[in-house]
Amino acid sequence: MTSYRDFHRRSIENPEAFWGAEAQRIDWQTPFELVLDRSNPPFARWFIGGRTNLCHNAVDRHLAERAQQNALVYVSTETGIERRYTYAELHAEINRMAAVMRSLGVKRGDVVLLYLPMIPEALFAMLACARLGAIHSVVFGGFAAPNLATRIDDAKPVLIVTADAGARGGKVIDYAPLIDEALARATHKTPRVLLIDRQLAPERLNARYLVAYEPLREQFFNAHVPCEWLESNEPSYVLYTSGTTGKPKGVQRDVGGYAVALAASMEHIFQGKPGDTMFTASDVGWVVGHSYIVYAPLIAGLTTVMYEGTPIRPDGGIWWRLVEQHKINLMFTAPTALRVLKKQDPALLKKADLSSLRALFLAGEPLDEPTAAWIADALGKPVIDNYWQTETGWPMLAIPRGVETLPTKLGSPGVPSAGFNLTLRNELTGEACAPGEKGVLTLGYPLPPGCMSTVWGDPSRFVSTYWSSIPNQQAYSTFDWGVQDEDGYVTILGRTDDVINVAGHRLGTREIEEALSSHAAVAEVAVVGVTDAVKGQVAMAFVVLRGAQPDADPSERARLEAELATTVDRQLGSIARPARVVVVSMLPKTRSGKLLRRAIAALAEGREPGDLPTIEDPAALQLVREALGEVGKA
Ligand code: PRX
Repeated sequence: MTSYRDFHRRSIENPEAFWGAEAQRIDWQTPFELVLDRSNPPFARWFIGGRTNLCHNAVDRHLAERAQQNALVYVSTETGIERRYTYAELHAEINRMAAVMRSLGVKRGDVVLLYLPMIPEALFAMLACARLGAIHSVVFGGFAAPNLATRIDDAKPVLIVTADAGARGGKVIDYAPLIDEALARATHKTPRVLLIDRQLAPERLNARYLVAYEPLREQFFNAHVPCEWLESNEPSYVLYTSGTTGKPKGVQRDVGGYAVALAASMEHIFQGKPGDTMFTASDVGWVVGHSYIVYAPLIAGLTTVMYEGTPIRPDGGIWWRLVEQHKINLMFTAPTALRVLKKQDPALLKKADLSSLRALFLAGEPLDEPTAAWIADALGKPVIDNYWQTETGWPMLAIPRGVETLPTKLGSPGVPSAGFNLTLRNELTGEACAPGEKGVLTLGYPLPPGCMSTVWGDPSRFVSTYWSSIPNQQAYSTFDWGVQDEDGYVTILGRTDDVINVAGHRLGTREIEEALSSHAAVAEVAVVGVTDAVKGQVAMAFVVLRGAQPDADPSERARLEAELATTVDRQLGSIARPARVVVVSMLPKTRSGKLLRRAIAALAEGREPGDLPTIEDPAALQLVREALGEVGKA
């Protein structure tokens, strides 16, 4: 068996040879002429001239051997619906959806925006886009209308696919008013909206712009739509993610590199074999859903389990019963879900037969040691933390169990994956850190296959955002702090920028600040991430009001604070709602007017902010302390 060290070294020293061999894991309609084009750094293009298709690799190519194997098992504890689709049935559904989209004018290179809950049609629609050579942009169904409008304007879709409603925790969320408002706000005019009618909110069906999916599906029931063969570097999808500015970035992914990277990750990291069953509890609106609910398991010939619902409804045993019922071999979720489950009756876990399960993968936020230890002990199976970003598309750090079963170390997601030339660097000098020394986690050029190819519609932003912050180096910044030990294991120590992570959801504090600033009463605002026992972090907003300060009446103040939190709900969705809004009379700033967010976060966590030589007025700290004290009493 090769050692991890040799394997990783080969991938860095000779990426052409390494990835040229990995590329054989997928089907190419036309072979590539060149593995890697380095002519325009920091951009890297993979498998030049190769023509392939993601839907062909995820579905069609399995028909010869596994047409009758389940491709998709769908379970909704919100509606009680459970459905299974073999590869043959999945193929038929994708062809129907592709034919419908084509009849509505969608063609190669067009953008289709998907605003969908966790229903099988979300997966069909993604793969139908891939089949047609269209670019999907999935917007998380929990996002609010203004958020959706921003993405419509940036992605400029020719078609939007949506449903009548989402459902969460027993509550139906009617999508029609959200779509109405988003379309009214957006300047880009999308000609059509295709509606999947789940019959959760039927009274909304006759809105003027809607095209009902079901009659068209009937019309194209026996349709066959050929796969459009794309050059490896054509875009497959755009997925928006938050950063330092208020404007979300469209992470653009390619076709061939993504397929190869996912296939390689299934072998080297997840060890998912054809015929296995994988349950990734995430949402198609996030990158984990794109890669490990939809594309990777299907490319590798697995059965993927798609779940709509929470981990605790009807009770905290539901996920473990799913493992038993569907003989799930691989499970993947975020640590938050486990912190929620940890509070449930431990007997629920023990009651289910978990013998099919080989490993539990966790990503999206730091895995705290007590949770890691609890779940590893309760399951008696390997628990594999892995670290990555929307931008990278697949794990940067993990335990590559398919290469060498390295031991796990509590608190660390593991070692760099193949192709990731990872270095911790000093943020001021750009120099590489010694083992044990804290630095910014950076990647060298080229990023491996599967990573973002550029920022959608704005290549200069790819360079200025990601490749320009480390002095004296051509390095991609992850904007995460980390520390690496002598054995190469990295521990993540939090973000270097103003991004926070609430229950595994990546949120920009700037977006929340902008939402709050739109309220007439707000003069100034600072939003910070504060440690939370279940969600990892929560957002906390500190607001200075316009004009007169709030009177001492605590009920009036509480009313205003709740109203401000609701403003965020309406603009960004409830996932961004601050856990607390605190009215203060002054915010701590530097003399040049920069908000001292870290100092505010320290105070909110009950820590002292330390030395702040640049602070304009130290009295501001005391005012924040006092305001927090009042919140504590309230
Ligand atoms: O800060 C890191 C944190 O989540 C960020 C990326 O979030 P997102 O783009 O939503 O992609 C999630 C893909 C799994 C990272 O910059 N993060 C992600 N995984 C971990 C993590 N922090 C600590 N440990 C992890 N395993």
